[in-house]
Amino acid sequence: MPFPVTRLRRLRRNEPLRSMVRETRLTPEAFVYPIFVCPGQGVRKEVRSMPGVFNLSVDEAVKEARETYSLGVPAVILFGLPEKKDEVATGAWADDGIVQQTTRAIKREVPNLIILGDVCLCEYMSHGHCGVVRPASGAQSLGAAVAAPGAAVTDYEIVNDATLELLARTSVSLARAGVDIIAPSDMMDGRVAAIRKALDEARLTNTPILSYAAKFASGFYGPFREAADSAPQFGDRRSYQMDPANLREAMREIELDIEEGADMIMIKPAMPYLDVIAAARERVDVPLAAYQVSGEYAMIEAAARNNWIDRDRVMMESLLSIRRAGASIILTYYAKDAARLLS
Ligand code: PBG
Repeated sequence: MPFPVTRLRRLRRNEPLRSMVRETRLTPEAFVYPIFVCPGQGVRKEVRSMPGVFNLSVDEAVKEARETYSLGVPAVILFGLPEKKDEVATGAWADDGIVQQTTRAIKREVPNLIILGDVCLCEYMSHGHCGVVRPASGAQSLGAAVAAPGAAVTDYEIVNDATLELLARTSVSLARAGVDIIAPSDMMDGRVAAIRKALDEARLTNTPILSYAAKFASGFYGPFREAADSAPQFGDRRSYQMDPANLREAMREIELDIEEGADMIMIKPAMPYLDVIAAARERVDVPLAAYQVSGEYAMIEAAARNNWIDRDRVMMESLLSIRRAGASIILTYYAKDAARLLS
């Protein structure tokens, strides 16, 4: 019998050997931990569909930020649940908005933690869309257009350019409050250019932009919308977020955002879109982030709670896959737990 020429198993025999030939490693320096901030004092309310994730009042968010930093995770991304919502997203750009307040409080206590500000309007709009909503030409009023939960997409529109102004205003307000990285997640066209211009005009030239460049219209955001109270009251987000079927279009989104001035780009969700991450890694040279979103987290948690999978193992494997596909930065609800396992 001829002896086999190649024996890959030789290097798999024990952990020291496996570790020596390992191609990809996870480090906590790559993680960004999402925090949801709500009004009040001493509030720590668990999100029903995301066990282990909480709505936190500012004081509790500061504690969470301190713990995150102490575990070696360098960054958090803040999402706000405002006191009031309206049709111009005042809570997003008000200088005393909930994320602005939280940013100042965290910067006082944990000055070296990097703060990312998610720039979007859906949490602050009474209708829950990421942009300004207008009745479509022909429809009499927005009220009539959207009265029925089943309102047709032809009855209203999400206005692109009017939204840019609010996104730019929000970005400047967040950066002034101390946010280190502006992360627009709205998916309007031209927002990166509009935000860059507004930041530069406000002399915030050192503030980088991490754009959610390829953000897909995904069912995996379900639990987040509960956590951030940001579900659209009518219609869906398919007229601005990307069609899950499109890889080439994702490359165009990414290239446009870089041309407009994005310093880093993100792909979201992560695990169902590993091909998009890998293709982007081949194509562009800016730092690449991926968001392991709420539904990805919820699925793992649910299966683990049924003892159908080994939670820690699947958590680490999912994060490693995202890294292997090419993302250097991972936004994940597992940031703290994974950092603990890595230490
Ligand atoms: C805001 C925003 C969303 C997420 C991040 N920023 C929700 C959405 O687009 O509906 C989703 C994050 C997650 O699911 O964990 N637009």
